Amino acid sequence: MRIQIINGPNLNLLGIREPEIYGKRAWEDYLKELRARFPKVRIDYFQSNLEGEIINMIHEVGFDRDGIVLNAGAYTHTSIAILDALRSVSTPTVEVHISNVYQREEFRRRSIISPGCVGFVGGFGLDSYRLAIEALIDNADRDKAE
Ligand code: DQA
Repeated sequence: MRIQIINGPNLNLLGIREPEIYGKRAWEDYLKELRARFPKVRIDYFQSNLEGEIINMIHEVGFDRDGIVLNAGAYTHTSIAILDALRSVSTPTVEVHISNVYQREEFRRRSIISPGCVGFVGGFGLDSYRLAIEALIDNADRDKAE
């Protein structure tokens, strides 16, 4: 099984950026832990601050990976282009947020990209990524059993 994590704008600053909201843990350290936790899954990682690069990556991986875990950052709330990209590919995507976007500002309560995703995980800190991967694994196992 092969899963692609895509992180959007400002998520390259995890551990430094607003630690009271996003935590103090460095992403690279967490990614190592994730890979160790799912030894049978190949977990690829991509981060970009640019909308077009995120779209290019969705196109690149969207037909042959088993799942995409997407934290689109603030583009979540603005990007019809990312929604269209998700709808253009066949790989299932789980929308992920580190924070509970429903507890924060009003503008974070609206996700433009959700209709292009199979599910949503948010509010569990970095653990949201693990939960999303588990959901994709369970989904794939269910599909195989059917
Ligand atoms: C975020 C929530 C977004 O509203 C914000 O713009 C981010 C991070 C999260 O992971 O909680 O950059 O996606």
